[in-house]
Amino acid sequence: MNQSHVAEPMDNTKLLELVAAAQKAALSAYNPYSKFSVGCALLSKSGKIYCGCNIENASYSVTICAERVAASQAILHKDMDWDAIVVVSPERVTMCGVCRQFLCEFTPELRVWSGYLDNTELVGPVLLQEMLPAAMTLARKKE
Ligand code: THU
Repeated sequence: MNQSHVAEPMDNTKLLELVAAAQKAALSAYNPYSKFSVGCALLSKSGKIYCGCNIENASYSVTICAERVAASQAILHKDMDWDAIVVVSPERVTMCGVCRQFLCEFTPELRVWSGYLDNTELVGPVLLQEMLPAAMTLARKKE
């Protein structure tokens, strides 16, 4: 874990690659209720990029955010040690509380950027653990 609680900047070319991947993922958003498209690109420390879009549901609370879709893809690949995430949307949003808790389970020191669907302006990096102080954790039991 990053003990200094400072989010290090990222190489600009890599960051732009993540923005492009997140913007492309947002095109797959299933959002007939809000019409709000969110896309994200999660960079693993292994160098792989996992993308996600929001998926809504007629039973609104069943909706899953883009961040948890990307994280789930990474988990499916047993790749849970992450470096950075870029989240894009029509107006800039900060990650919801449920996603903060979900991602914190795996990488509290994740660097988070947020931006837009149609340009490369970004806000960040912010450390996930700064966005969710005192995250709920449990001791993990040995198998
Ligand atoms: N949403 C995300 O996918 N990620 C966020 O960080 C914020 C909100 C989605 C959920 C819903 O489909 C739509 O955006 C409006 O809240």
